[in-house]
Amino acid sequence: MKIIMLGAPGAGKGTQAKMIAAKYGIPHISTGDIFRANIKNGTELGAKAKEYMDKGLLVPDELVVDLVIDRFKEPDCQKGYVLDGFPRTIPQAEALDKALSAIGEKVDYAINVEVPDENIVNRMGGRRACVGCGATYHIKYSPTKVEGKCDTCGADLIIRDDDKPETVKNRLNVYHEQTQPLIEYYTQKGIIAEVDGTVDMNDVFDAIVKILGE
Ligand code: AP5
Ligand code: MG
Repeated sequence: MKIIMLGAPGAGKGTQAKMIAAKYGIPHISTGDIFRANIKNGTELGAKAKEYMDKGLLVPDELVVDLVIDRFKEPDCQKGYVLDGFPRTIPQAEALDKALSAIGEKVDYAINVEVPDENIVNRMGGRRACVGCGATYHIKYSPTKVEGKCDTCGADLIIRDDDKPETVKNRLNVYHEQTQPLIEYYTQKGIIAEVDGTVDMNDVFDAIVKILGE
């Protein structure tokens, strides 16, 4: 099962992708997480990506596409995967389709998690991310048991550099200009599924399971 998560920054793509990965036993591939890991490890790719991410801009397609295509050729992807944050532009979607059709495969579902812009800024301010395992929390909607410490691995929680209100606004603009057209792209292909992302995260997940099947 090959699934793409679509939605604005902060819509809950990562939250839902982690739940999908756990239920269906497929890897969660997040380009944002890959870039953040590279930044943390001080790689050349990380340094290049950071320039764009801190401004709320997209990292250029040429730095993203090969990275993802190499990743899904790895053995853990044989049963499928859930892509979170990729594709994010029409050229990325076309590159993905081309790479998949070359091996006789295709995307099965593009799930659009719908959340209006008004809700987004609120959510981002409360998000906390684990520096150790990448788990995501929210101070109000998904708090940790011990403040500032990850429930899973005990490492410290941080506020993402790109979650400042000004950067969030840029990310939303970039989303509307460059990523939202993908909804039409996958509607044309007949694989789009929409879920309401404003409800409780477990209810969002129930709606997704109805689409994907038990
Ligand atoms: P990326 O990491 O993908 O960020 P994003 O798309 O902006 O999305 P987020 O991770 O911010 O949000 P999310 O939808 O995953 O929400 P989450 O589940 O955390 O990308 C970061 C940057 O990397 C980009 O700006 C770009 O520069 C670069 N990049 C990455 N991929 C790229 C690509 N393909 N091409 C070019 N550049 C690329 O939830 C948000 C918060 O809300 C959390 O605190 C969560 O607990 C809470 N929450 C979730 N669901 C609910 C709910 N139902 N109710 C209440 N709260 C909820
Ligand atoms: Mg995310």
